[in-house]
Amino acid sequence: MAKIIVLANLKGGVAKSTSTNHFAHAAQANGLDSCIVDFDPNATLYSQGQRLELGVPVYRGNLEDIVKQLKEEIQHDYIFVDTPPNNGDVITRLCLVADEVIVPISPTGYDLDLLAHTTRLISEVEGIRNTALLSILITKYRLNLNSAKEALDKLGANMEKFPVLDNRIRLLDVYSKYQRPTKLDEYEDVLKELELI
Ligand SMILES: Nc1ncnc2c1ncn2[C@@H]1O[C@H](COP(=O)(O)OP(=O)(O)OP(=O)(O)O)[C@@H](O)[C@H]1O
Ligand SMILES: [Mg+2]
Repeated sequence: MAKIIVLANLKGGVAKSTSTNHFAHAAQANGLDSCIVDFDPNATLYSQGQRLELGVPVYRGNLEDIVKQLKEEIQHDYIFVDTPPNNGDVITRLCLVADEVIVPISPTGYDLDLLAHTTRLISEVEGIRNTALLSILITKYRLNLNSAKEALDKLGANMEKFPVLDNRIRLLDVYSKYQRPTKLDEYEDVLKELELI
């Protein structure tokens, strides 16, 4: 059975697509047969896959039949799923078939209310499926930034509500280059923490 890992946050610009791309390449670099499925109508990753020589295949998500596409049609062991911002319906439907749901947050443009809104959607599905899905990944992390500190303090005070991963993704230029992902170690550490590799 393929593992389906969904990257989701109602908030835009938190590194969902960047993380999906890097996770898929990190898993592939560790010998796992991986791919990306892009459910964003803007198709950022899909068009990157068309224009760049990526190390993994990128498919467009089929909203008409998510279950059939992810469970039957796509033949890879690890499926990393990118989602659009501001679409709770797509997040919910993907959570119904996911093995892991990773919510990236960037503490620079931080919004605790929207995070709670995203995690509520996911915990509803966790309740229905009676399984834990959610992990929160801090991205674009800069240690010396006050806004980041403040955001992380708030998160820390809400640790029970928010299962935050220990490993973080730093704010680095290398992640924002329009190229095949090259720096994989931080994302590899997250996959190890999740016991996926
Ligand atoms: N760790 C990082 N360090 C520096 N820049 C980053 C990092 N992660 C992502 N970025 C940059 O931040 C911007 C937003 O990232 P990305 O497009 O992955 O977010 P998103 O959540 O998919 O956005 P959207 O909601 O619009 O789909 C991009 O320009 C990306 O290159
Ligand atoms: Mg995106």
